[in-house]
Amino acid sequence: MARFAYVNGRFVRHADATVHIEDRGYQFADGVYEVVTVLGGEFVDKAGHLARLKRSLGELKIAPPFSDAVLETVMRTLVRRNGVKDGYLYLQITRGVAPRDFKFPKVSKSAIVMTTRRQPFKPELPSEAGVSVLTVPDIRWARRDIKSIGLLAQVLAKQAGAEAGAFEAWMVDPQGFVTEGASSNAWILTADGVLVTRQADNAILHGITGNSIEALAAEQGIKVERRPFTVAEALAAREAFLTSATTFCLPITQIDGKPVANGHPGEMSRTLRRAYFEYGKSRQDAPFGWPH
Ligand code: PDD
Repeated sequence: MARFAYVNGRFVRHADATVHIEDRGYQFADGVYEVVTVLGGEFVDKAGHLARLKRSLGELKIAPPFSDAVLETVMRTLVRRNGVKDGYLYLQITRGVAPRDFKFPKVSKSAIVMTTRRQPFKPELPSEAGVSVLTVPDIRWARRDIKSIGLLAQVLAKQAGAEAGAFEAWMVDPQGFVTEGASSNAWILTADGVLVTRQADNAILHGITGNSIEALAAEQGIKVERRPFTVAEALAAREAFLTSATTFCLPITQIDGKPVANGHPGEMSRTLRRAYFEYGKSRQDAPFGWPH
C-alpha cells in the first residue's frame, strides 16, 4: 500500500512529498514538532501532545496553521490512509517560506507536514536485557521546554551513544545533574522506593508520556519527586528507566558501561510499562497532559 504524507493542505505519496528550499524550518530550524503514539489505530495522550504543540508555537510566535479540530481530522485521516494500527505520527510546523532573513518575515504562512511510521508496541519489554545509556554533556540552548526542530545537539548525543553501543544518551548539565535523554525523559527509583525525575523547567522537554506515567504511579500510591539527580545517584538507584512516546517506558540496565543495581530490568519499570500500555489502550484521550 502506498504511504502518504500530509504537506501543506494535501495528502501526497510519501515518496513525492517535498517542501520549499526557503522554508524557515530548513534554513533556521524555525519550527516545532510533535510525535504522537498510535495504539490500536487511536492516538495516545493526544490532548497533552496538542497542548504542548500549541504552547511551543505560542512561545515562538508561530501561527497555528489551523484549528485543533481540523488538525485532528488531518491527523486521523493520515493514520487511516496509511493503515497505521500501532506506530506514531510525526507532525512539524514551521514559520513557513520566506526569503532568507533572520527576523520574522512580515508575511508568512505557517507550513505543516505530517508523516506516520508503523511500530509494534507491546506491554512486554522489547528486550530482557534492558537498554544502556551513555552520558554526554548537555550542550543545548536554554529553552529546552520548547519542542523545537533544532535537534543537532541530540543528533550528536545519540550518535555518540550509538558509537558506544548505547541505546540512548543521557545529557548532563554543568552541575553534574542529568537533564534528560536525547529523545526521552530520565527516571530513577531510589533505594527507598521513590520515583525521581527532573522538574519540568526550561532545562528539559516536558514529556507527555512521563506525565501520564507519573499519574499512573501516583494511582498506585508510588511517590514521585520532581528534582534533578546525578549520574552517581542513578548508578546507586534500585532502577533507572526512560519514557517517551516512541518507547513508552524502558528499563535502563547500564550507564556508561556500569550496571544499574543488578544489571537487570526491575519490577517498577515493567509495572509502569504495562500500566501505560493498558492506559493507552483504554483511555487514549485521558486528560493527563502537561498542565498549563
Ligand atoms: N522525543 N525529552 C526529549 C528531548 C524528547 O525529544 C522527547 C520525545 C521526550 C519525551 O517526550 P514525550 O513523552 O512527550 O514523547 C523528552 C520524541 C519521541 C522524538 O523526538 O522522537
